[in-house]
Amino acid sequence: MKKLFILFSGMVMLFACTSQDKTNSAEIKLNKNNIDEIVNALTLDEKASLLIGTGMKSMMGKSHPAVGSTQLGVNGAAGTTVAIPRLGIPFVVLADGPAGLRISPTRKNDENTYYCTAFPVGTLLASTWDTALVESVGATTGNEMLEYGVDVILGPGMNIQRNPLCGRNFEYFSEDPYLTGTIASAMVNGIQSNGVGTSVKHFALNNQETNRNFNDARVSERAMREIYLKGYEIVVKDAQPWTVMSSYNKINGTYAAHNHWLLTEVLRDDWGFEGLVMTDWFGGRDAVAQVTAGNDLQEPGRKSQKKAIIKGVENGTLSIKDVNTSVKRVLELVVKSPGFNGYKHNNKPDLKTHAAVARQAATEGMILLENNGALPFSIEIKNIALFGTTSYDFISGGMGSGDVNEEYTVSLAEGIANAGYTVNESVKSDYDKYYEDNGGVPKKPKNALFSMINSERLGEFIPSEEQLASAVSSSDAAIITIGRNTTEGKDHAEKDDFLLTNAEQAMIKSVCNEYHNAGKQVVVVLNIGGVIETTSWKNLPDAVLLAWQAGQEGGNSVADILKGNVNPSGKLPMTFPVALSDHASTVNFPTEGASISLLAITGIKKDKKPDKYVRNIDYTEYEEGIYVGYRHFDKKGLKVSYPFGYGLSYTTFAFSDANVERSGGMWIATVNVTNTGKVAGKEVVELYVSAPESDIDKPNRELKAFTKTKTIAQGESQTLTMTFTDYDLASFHPDKSEWITDAGTYQALFGASVENILQTVPFELMK
Ligand code: BGC
Repeated sequence: MKKLFILFSGMVMLFACTSQDKTNSAEIKLNKNNIDEIVNALTLDEKASLLIGTGMKSMMGKSHPAVGSTQLGVNGAAGTTVAIPRLGIPFVVLADGPAGLRISPTRKNDENTYYCTAFPVGTLLASTWDTALVESVGATTGNEMLEYGVDVILGPGMNIQRNPLCGRNFEYFSEDPYLTGTIASAMVNGIQSNGVGTSVKHFALNNQETNRNFNDARVSERAMREIYLKGYEIVVKDAQPWTVMSSYNKINGTYAAHNHWLLTEVLRDDWGFEGLVMTDWFGGRDAVAQVTAGNDLQEPGRKSQKKAIIKGVENGTLSIKDVNTSVKRVLELVVKSPGFNGYKHNNKPDLKTHAAVARQAATEGMILLENNGALPFSIEIKNIALFGTTSYDFISGGMGSGDVNEEYTVSLAEGIANAGYTVNESVKSDYDKYYEDNGGVPKKPKNALFSMINSERLGEFIPSEEQLASAVSSSDAAIITIGRNTTEGKDHAEKDDFLLTNAEQAMIKSVCNEYHNAGKQVVVVLNIGGVIETTSWKNLPDAVLLAWQAGQEGGNSVADILKGNVNPSGKLPMTFPVALSDHASTVNFPTEGASISLLAITGIKKDKKPDKYVRNIDYTEYEEGIYVGYRHFDKKGLKVSYPFGYGLSYTTFAFSDANVERSGGMWIATVNVTNTGKVAGKEVVELYVSAPESDIDKPNRELKAFTKTKTIAQGESQTLTMTFTDYDLASFHPDKSEWITDAGTYQALFGASVENILQTVPFELMK
């Protein structure tokens, strides 16, 4: 009986659509004001086509969960929507990714090249703590999209860096949701100022790559709201990204792409998101459940999904109202796209100017971790010995869909030479030989799929006594580069990824010993995408510069800092712990560095046998709740290697006259920053707030605002203003399931890091 009813109601709906189709199929063409009319004019078949992409050309004859490679529209873009020419609906081009546009650099039978700028990775951008700068990187990226004919970029990536081992941390911003959301908003605003769109991703809780397509993130609503969703809430409210990408994983048992609570109740009803939700590539398992949940577009699109949508409407399991709503959102995206609005892209963005933006952004996000006065290099330093294979093969960014096809990457050796130093020939020839013996400096894999699989780097060799003796006598100082790369689809392992390898440890020890014995200095440069162990070796060299993966101009940016042309002003967007196990999340994180590829296959089987769950692979318990990153270390009083928000400068700063007052329903915090050192520089002010006693447990302090000075000269001061609201001070009450701002006395802590609070101001929040 029930079945009959569903069938019957399905037929009525089908009849309703086809009859509408007939009445409206005249000669109308899509424009900004007739979207409803177009929805009525589309057949069910066309509607279903619009809700899935055009599919992905397979590299192996069948679909696979890899990065895209469409030939439609823009070669090498990740995907497109479907065009319906009879109603004047063009397709929209979607391309990766978070560190710059990812398209094919060359095309068949075409002499032109289509290189894109490799900007610094997301983690470095967050380390600038400079929203104006990030916005300018966004604006530059958006210009490349516009000129190459790309409508939506699949980024920024903004998952929380829950644990140092997540293989995609380089694409993400921070362990803190406020910093994440604020930097993401700047990026989105910058990109979208060009009239092109973004897709903030991966919504939500895709915090590990191991078995990412099947893993179930089991997490409390409070931890979600305060930590894992907060950044998205900020970006939706502050920047209205055109689209959001739902993640692969499950959340408390339901795939993100099937999750009505997440995609409709929270994202749209609570936060007011106005755009479209698309799946991650091949994400989600049930096309009907996805449309019902509010996941409008299924990418890259499969025939089976289209069939399922049509069948769902016909048999009444999918409401035509939901289909129409999603179709409308696709059309709203189409009418915003530059091509639809008559923009003729020139395929000639100004890559030279964009490289300069990348270079400057990179210098602003590099973090000076240690310095006993060795940096900036004195003018006596002329010949520099470069140790570590990565010095000659600098890493511009991580691999996978977040990788960019840039024209070049400036290595450290090239950057040092460009800055006027001599790269020590004796050491360089040792490394040339080592590379030669090991197959040469590896080229970037051209194929996106291989780029995802192969992130391994050549291991280090320990220089012999003779090699070191010749290096020390023929150079004025040494730089050792430690490199780490990772790729989407794989997490780091604790051993040899988080921890330094034995060869790296031995290299640092012997180079430092020999140079120090000769009264010469050693600097370690970290060309890495995420957190590594530093406590055991950080006091051996004279200085440590965290260069991150700094984009295609990386070597030049490092040289700018080493030489003192730029005074470092980056601050850590996450904690560097003493041990990996110090993170509360580590007991519930895969620490073996497993990859998705094999696990995904076993995952498919397990998916059908939910009784055989495996901890941290099939499911991950977020037992630490809200105690992620500094919230945990601070609460437990744990010693860390470098605290959240930490970073040195070539000058010193003092904070004074801090104040907090209420005005126009906002809290206005001000503080005066004075440059008390000897060179000009910039300082970040981090505003943490401690809450009063509450009926729920709260972190000791949480970041609620931040800002950065302009370049201030020696002796000069600048007064900085930051604002926040009562709502920003709220916690998500687990029993009442709502945001509650407690009344009472709060402390505003003005810090240069989470541990280095320089001014404290109490303020009273009345009921
Ligand atoms: C990644 C996404 C990416 C998409 C398209 C997926 O494998 O998870 O971040 O945007 O591929 O390339």
